[in-house]
Parts: sequence; structure tokens; C-alpha cells
Amino acid sequence: MTAKKQVIRAALAAGVLTMASIGAVAVSGSASAAQHSQQSQRPGGPVNRIVGGTVAHTADAPWAVALNNSGSPSPSGQWCGSTLVKANKIVTAAHCAQEAASTYTAIQGRDVLTQTGGKVSKISSIWVDPEYGKSPAHDVAVMTLATPFEGVATLALETDKAADKAGAASVVYGWGSTEGTGPEDTFQKVTVPVLGDAYCQKAYASEGYTADGEICAGYEQGGKDSCQGDSGGPLVLNGRLFGVVSWGVGCADAGNPGVYAQVATYAAELQQQIG
Ligand code: ARG
Repeated sequence: MTAKKQVIRAALAAGVLTMASIGAVAVSGSASAAQHSQQSQRPGGPVNRIVGGTVAHTADAPWAVALNNSGSPSPSGQWCGSTLVKANKIVTAAHCAQEAASTYTAIQGRDVLTQTGGKVSKISSIWVDPEYGKSPAHDVAVMTLATPFEGVATLALETDKAADKAGAASVVYGWGSTEGTGPEDTFQKVTVPVLGDAYCQKAYASEGYTADGEICAGYEQGGKDSCQGDSGGPLVLNGRLFGVVSWGVGCADAGNPGVYAQVATYAAELQQQIG
């Protein structure tokens, strides 16, 4: 990796989606992936998922919904994550929602995306925050399910911006890349403490971090993080949807924590779409 930091906004999506507002785009590199395997995959040691996380079960997080896309380079169709906030509404990232509605499939209750099972729905319509790509942050979108996931637990939106306080132990979920630390396409979770806006404003001085609209979470020393393919998925705190996986420089690298869309900042407009 060169001195210039390279930001990956979309994961799987990296080669496919248009990266608004950030200049450089890189597909997550072999170099850092190799480093992570060395650090966290010892023979006989714990098997890590997400990056540095553990296997999770959708039975315990029924509101976590995989968002597949027919254009995904992954054979499973894995594309992004999302959160069920009403029987027929999911919240995801704007950068995950740039394709035609007909190309998406939402999947609830399936731990391993290469397998079958769970509830499945097509997407009937997509709302993307109209400011996304025009002003910084705003990486949020709401999709409507053609077949509502009736009877499935939903997550409420966090509406209090003050929840974004350093030290808060939030948990992120997803089916995204493990950077070689575990099997792909498998539901995982990891606890990421809020680092606070000041940390990311410094760490991402050249990329641009938005204090009111983004959450900075992870570990200064790295090792545990969300990663490519986790985008759009839930960052959960106090039983509410606190953040939406948005971006980072690499994954789980020291000094480069994860950045999440701050749900409280957009709660009113999201709620209007959710109804
Ligand atoms: N943009 C990525 C995606 O589309 C998520 C990146 C999260 N990166 C991180 N270091 N937390 O899946």
C-alpha cells in the first residue's frame, strides 16, 4: 500500500459501484489480508470472523437482513447488509443502493449465504438520501420489501445523537469479508467501541469525516472491524439501530477504524420513509 491512504467505500461493490465523494478506490489488498491472517489465524487458535469477530446466528439477530445483488462478483450473491426496521422496510447504506431495485434480494434468517433457508423478498422500491454524493456523509437508504417479513423482530432507530459517545460498546453484524480470518458468506459479529468523532477527524483528516452524520468505532490498535460486504449492515447499541456500516481505510488496520452512518442524525428523514 502506498503512502496515500486509499478508501474503500464499497466492498464487493468496490469494482462495481461508483464511489462518490472519495477520490481513490482500491480493492482490499492482498498485503493487508495476509497480515491479518498472520496476526489472527494461528493453527489451533481461535477462528476469527468479520475481521476479528465470532460466528453469530440470525436467530439471535433476526432484524439483520442480508442484501444480495445479482451483479455481485460473489457466487452467493453477497453484496451488503441491512436492518429490518418494519415488516416491509429495511435500512441500508446509500452506496449499497445504487443498482436497480429488481437486482436485489433481501434474505432474513440465513446464517450461511451459500445455503438455503430463511425468508426471502425482492425489493419493490428504493429511497436513497437525496444528499448522498452531494454533501459528505448521508450514506443511508431505505428499501421496501415486496414480500414483508411478517412476525420478525425489528430494530428501532436510535434518535439521540448523544448516544455517539466514546467508550460505548456497540456491536456490528454482517456477512462481509473476513480478510482470510474465517469463512466468507457467514454471519458474524464483533464488538466495536465508539472511539469518538475527534479520533476519526484526525485519523481521516485527508479522507474527510463528518462528526454530525458519522460514527467512529473500532480499536486504535486494529484487529477487529467490519469490512467489505458488511456495508449497510447494523451497528447496534442499547437494542437500537445506532449506525450503518459505511466505510474505512482497509479493515481492522491500526489507526484506521470503521466509519458508520449515524442513524440519529438521519432518524427523522428515515422515519418519514419508514412510515
Ligand atoms: N464500504 C464497505 C462495504 O461496502 C464497508 C467498509 C467498512 N470498512 C471498515 N473498515 N469498517 O461493504
